[in-house]
Amino acid sequence: MTKKPFYITTPIYYPSGDLHIGHTYTTVAADAMKRFKTLTGYDAYMLTGTDEHGQKIQKKAEEAGVTPQEFVDGQIDKIKKLWKLMNIDYDQFIRTTDEEHVKTIQRIFEKLYEQGDIYKGKYEGHYCTPCESFWTDSQLVDGCCPDCGRPVQDASEEAYFFKMSKYADRLMKYIEEHPDFIQPESRKNEMVKNFLEPGLQDLCVSRTSFDWGVPVTFDKKHVVYVWMDALPNYISALGYLNDKENLMDKYWPADVHLVGKDIIRFHTIYWPIFLMALGLELPKHVYGHGWILIKGGKMGKSFGNVVDPVELADTYGVDALRYHVLSDMKKGADGNYSEDMLVNKINVNLANDLGNLLSRTAAMTAKYFDGVIPDAREEEPVDEELISLAEKTPGMMEADMDNFDPAQALEDLFTLVSRANKYIDETQPWVLGKDEMKRARLASVLYNLTETLRYIAVLIEPFMPETGGKMAQELLLTPEERTWESLKHFGGYQAGKKIERHAPLFPRIEKKPSEEAKEEKKPAKKEKKQAKKEEKKKEEGKKDEKITIEEFSKPELVVGRIVKSERHPNADRLLVNQVDIGEESPRQIVSGISQWYTPEELTGKSVVVCVNLKPAKLRGVVSDGMLLAAEEGDTVSLLEADKKLSPGSKIR
Ligand code: MSP
Repeated sequence: MTKKPFYITTPIYYPSGDLHIGHTYTTVAADAMKRFKTLTGYDAYMLTGTDEHGQKIQKKAEEAGVTPQEFVDGQIDKIKKLWKLMNIDYDQFIRTTDEEHVKTIQRIFEKLYEQGDIYKGKYEGHYCTPCESFWTDSQLVDGCCPDCGRPVQDASEEAYFFKMSKYADRLMKYIEEHPDFIQPESRKNEMVKNFLEPGLQDLCVSRTSFDWGVPVTFDKKHVVYVWMDALPNYISALGYLNDKENLMDKYWPADVHLVGKDIIRFHTIYWPIFLMALGLELPKHVYGHGWILIKGGKMGKSFGNVVDPVELADTYGVDALRYHVLSDMKKGADGNYSEDMLVNKINVNLANDLGNLLSRTAAMTAKYFDGVIPDAREEEPVDEELISLAEKTPGMMEADMDNFDPAQALEDLFTLVSRANKYIDETQPWVLGKDEMKRARLASVLYNLTETLRYIAVLIEPFMPETGGKMAQELLLTPEERTWESLKHFGGYQAGKKIERHAPLFPRIEKKPSEEAKEEKKPAKKEKKQAKKEEKKKEEGKKDEKITIEEFSKPELVVGRIVKSERHPNADRLLVNQVDIGEESPRQIVSGISQWYTPEELTGKSVVVCVNLKPAKLRGVVSDGMLLAAEEGDTVSLLEADKKLSPGSKIR
């Protein structure tokens, strides 16, 4: 059966300096979409590359004292290395200096000139070099570029023009008839209101004041305007009007051009009009994502806040970085980057939620079944919720990805991770393990957990390829167990394999939060005082209330031993404790006691633990239980238990 094609593109990057994590977002998102489509059975093709002509690059080369060609040649390796590091599985890397691309641009220009869409005239206006955009007087904002706010240069030169106005009505109609062409909707409205409705002016499509560009064949002192050179890369890569292999029939029209919001205008106004003039179909979707911001502001060299993806990937791992940028950019909105947020996500979502799920399951399988995933099935109603969520998750994620929303897809996947962790708490395998009669049930619980982990391994791979691979390795998944089809019905995991325990998927990161983050997180003094007052009032009221013995037995109290304690990554007041309560692995319990205890003092203490408190996230870290303490004046002391009592001993 021939697979359905899916063609996805990223913008082609200016090779004018180092790429930052903002640039990395588009490419990682496109890669995740390509991989997801491949998983679901498409013949997915991804294009990326570099946009190498134009005044900006020529200036950079002059500054560096080399020719523009030498300058761009010197940048390419770095960019390709970055994509390799980020695990980008592109199918073609196009450069606008490629001979075949240049051919396409020259032929397009000739064709449009011959059919009368391009004519010669004189350009009088302004040019913004950083944006490579022309502006008229009335479009300037306070005399500066309306896109980036930087000063513009006066430009007056003989030039060729493209008759944009001829196609404006057709484009407007197309946008109306294809409501999902420009996404998200807010960007569509912006384009229609700000550009189409006021009326399009003819576009200047050649320059004579510099020469680093594709020469116009019939008028050599002109080079083609850089956007008219760059946009057709999406078709020159497929062999349009050049001598490359013809992939147009297979992949055109593109399924989606993924671009940042700053260049959506070029992709939804200029590009469709060029395509109409060439008699080609328009791309099915143009998706304009937001920006990754730093402290709410734009990132860039000129702002001095560039975040280097290579450094981050080296420090925290590629998948953690991929996860951070993908999960942060909610549909249609801007994202935010901070190192504290990244560390927090690694510790909470990756190390704690996902990593622990795998390691707890593997540890219990090792302990109770010598590492061999058991086959016995003894279903109980509590399994139903986990199984049905696992079966639903692939479809939900597919819909999210078709909606260009990798952040939502990851959220749906991590809901399954949380559900599986909750299933461990509900089924309490360590209790089942104590009872020989419950072995079949214990086997079923561990099978269900392993099968859920298989779903997670398969579904996480497009977003975090290394993690998916590591999980598959640990669970000994066969190629058949890693297919989309195998996720149709819960139960595809072949029991009987002996799995080995591996190193943690994501080790927790010990990192002091920045001073600034600390300040932000400190509750105001006034709020604290008020909360204390209210608590005191409540406590006083309670003294007179009597409770029944049934009510008293509601909290389940046991003896626990603190095996490890560390400071919370994001809150000064909190300590994150690992407490042995006689279960398979220690419970993580967060307590607000750092004012009175150091982590070293706590380690080894026998304490009183309430174990049936609903788990909660405290400043992003899951707390599953509570340590009991007494308060006297301004001091808080933990209730300690006799050291002779073993962890897990019930307190009545
Ligand atoms: N060369 C043009 C694209 C031509 S496509 C036919 C260009 N290049 S760029 O290198 O400046 O930007 C490439 C992409 O990176 C754009 O989609 C841009 O929106 C994106 N980003 C640049 N900074 C960004 C963030 N801070 N956050 C997210 N994306 C950002 O434009």
